This record gives sequence, structure tokens and C-alpha cells, in this order.
Amino acid sequence: MNDFRVREAVPGDAPGYIRLMKAILRENPPVGTPYAADEFDPAPGAMAERIEDYPLTGNSLFLVALAGERGEQVIGSLTCRGGSLRSDRHVAELGVYVAREWRNQGVGAALIQRALAWGTEQPIITRIELEVLAGNDRALRLYERCGFVREGVRRRACQRGGIAEDMILMGWLKEES
Ligand SMILES: CC(C)(COP(=O)(O)OP(=O)(O)OC[C@H]1O[C@@H](n2cnc3c(N)ncnc32)[C@H](O)[C@@H]1OP(=O)(O)O)[C@@H](O)C(=O)NCCC(=O)NCCS
Repeated sequence: MNDFRVREAVPGDAPGYIRLMKAILRENPPVGTPYAADEFDPAPGAMAERIEDYPLTGNSLFLVALAGERGEQVIGSLTCRGGSLRSDRHVAELGVYVAREWRNQGVGAALIQRALAWGTEQPIITRIELEVLAGNDRALRLYERCGFVREGVRRRACQRGGIAEDMILMGWLKEES
């Protein structure tokens, strides 16, 4: 098995993170993400500031998975963005991406397990939620294996290539973990 490690992102990861996301969004056929390739084009400086802001919110987490000869290539990412209102500060929205050549090797599971450990320890967060395209079997399987529960369907919520696909809403509750 190939070696990788997971750690919290630092501003210097911005260019590698942008490269990862652009490669994923350019995949053909498209992978299970609602973003189109031209809808993700942040400036590295702006992304570095965003990464820096995550821990400052007190209820958000930005992880990267790293590999390569010098262990510096960003091969996966996970964001948990906590709500900003008093009514939803306990909720974080999760997004996870792994480079194509690294899929099915446990990187996604390692990122999610680290995020759930954070959610378990974290004093504010009690719920982590996500949305996934109904046809994204690999992601659905992974989320269920990690303890996320299917909570509902947003029917025809995602328009891609002229087809409107359903999205599944899933949630993890600290009290059930
Ligand atoms: C979804 C994603 C994050 C998962 O990461 P990963 O590193 O491949 O995940 P893991 O290797 O930890 O686990 C994958 C699981 O899916 C299973 N799997 C693989 N292909 C599958 C398929 N076609 N149908 C069902 N399950 C599948 C694997 O067997 C594995 O489960 P197991 O360990 O119980 O056997 C990654 O594939 C990815 O980035 N995909 C493109 C972007 C995306 O879809 N992001 C999620 C948006 S909601």
C-alpha cells in the first residue's frame, strides 16, 4: 500500500489544493461533484487566506492528505465548515476529495475518520452533514461505513450535462457515535 499522511492544512498548501481540485473537476467522465471545472478558479492568495481562516472560526476544520517522495503532494482534502449563526454553529458541512490515482486506498476513510475524531472532541460541533449525488456509490458506501445516516433526498437538485440528478442528504450526530 502507498504511504500517505493526514494533517491540518496550512496556507502553504493552497497551490497544491487548487491543483488537486482542478484535476478532479476536469475528470472525464465527471466525478460526483456538483462543481463544473470553470466554477473553481480561486487565486492562491485568496485560498491561502481561506485556509488560514478555518481554524480561527472555532468550529471548522480543513485537512489535507499528503504523499509523494518528499511527502508534500496534496492528494486529498476534507473541509468541515461550521455554521456562522447561533442556530447552526453546532453543524459543520463536510466535503471530501481524493486524487483519482489514490482512490480506493483508504485515503477518503482516513480523512473522514480524522474529521469525526475532531467532531467528537470539539466542544461546539454536535452534527456533521453532507450532500452526495445519488449515483455516487463509492462516496455513499464510504459515508455509511463511517457512520453517516441517510436523512433525505433533494429531488433533481443537481443539474449536470442536461440531466437533473437527486442529491442525498446525510448526517452524523455526536450523540450517536
Ligand atoms: C468519494 C471519495 C472521496 C472516496 O475516497 P477514497 O479514498 O476512494 O475512499 P476509500 O478508499 O477510503 O473507500 C472507498 C470505498 O468505496 C468502495 N467502492 C469503490 N468503488 C465503488 C463503487 N463503484 N460502488 C460502491 N462502492 C465502491 C470501496 O470498496 C471502499 O469501501 P470498502 O473499504 O468498504 O471496501 C473519492 O473517491 C473521490 O474523491 N471521488 C471523487 C470526488 C467525490 O465524489 N467526492 C465526494 C463528493 S460528495
